[in-house]
Amino acid sequence: MKKDILTLLDLEKKDFKHLFQRALELKKRHQKGIPDRSLAGKSLGLIFEKPSTRTRVSFETAMVQLGGTPIFISAKDTQIVRNEPVRDTARVLSRYIDAVAIRTFSQDLLNGFAEFSAIPVINALTDLYHPCQVLSDLLTIIELKGSFNDLKIVWIGDGNNVANSWINAAAVIDLNLTLACPSGYEPAKDILEKAQAFDCGDIIVTNDPLEAVENADVIYTDVWASMGQEREQTIRKKIFSPFQVDSNLVKRASDDVIVMHCLPAHRGEEISEDVLEGNQSVVWDQAENKMHMHKAIIDVLIRNQSENPGAPDSE
Ligand code: CP
Ligand code: NVA
Repeated sequence: MKKDILTLLDLEKKDFKHLFQRALELKKRHQKGIPDRSLAGKSLGLIFEKPSTRTRVSFETAMVQLGGTPIFISAKDTQIVRNEPVRDTARVLSRYIDAVAIRTFSQDLLNGFAEFSAIPVINALTDLYHPCQVLSDLLTIIELKGSFNDLKIVWIGDGNNVANSWINAAAVIDLNLTLACPSGYEPAKDILEKAQAFDCGDIIVTNDPLEAVENADVIYTDVWASMGQEREQTIRKKIFSPFQVDSNLVKRASDDVIVMHCLPAHRGEEISEDVLEGNQSVVWDQAENKMHMHKAIIDVLIRNQSENPGAPDSE
């Protein structure tokens, strides 16, 4: 049976582990120039309703490197914009392609697509979640810190889609996660409560960025106004200004703290130029690892589907 990644709660701890192992293996092979054509003859659809540089190109490259074919589908050029029901699109595309990555606004639309899709559906970002981003960021943390166990991971800024996926990850793999957000911009209560119901590590929410970063091993930030919130940009700039990740904030963290940002970055807003370009910033490693993690995701999901078409959900 097919396996989707709509949120990180779709994965168990063992699935995270398997994806990290496979991504590291594929990365090593790539660096040694050993080709891996595990997806020869397969195709991945990419339906995007929002802009993307990294996610789109890294998924497309991942598919090409694994011997398969990516098919980019700009949502505005499909019948979706003329109100063809999502459940019809899902059933039709399931007859052509082997998996689909979708970037859209509504998580409900994504879930609706997955319900009627016979092929694996991957969330490539919605207003609510960005699961693949956090999977690849965890890969970067594993490479740079050896493990994510016993690390203090601190999110600074908006309680947005990427933050929500960090909360889900914390629930499943027991992260020590602190989120410092302006009052009124904390992650949604239901997402936090659902995560806290897991037998997981600490998830702390505060409005004090200075206190939050004390002894942090990882500081993570993201734009103050996400895609679709452009009209709030000016007001958010004012409200979020004490939450800029700058050298004053970073110096309160551990000496070997790493600073992460999913990109695109707005220098001088959520992160200062010197921190983004400084020694502690690992943003380019993060961007690279999106490709290695996306290779692991499509490899695992598509091969699982071909090998166990009738089996219950596994990884
Ligand atoms: N980090 C990320 O998802 O970037 P893009 O919007 O460029 O895909
Ligand atoms: N929170 C950002 C992430 C971009 C990758 C957004 O949704 O625009």
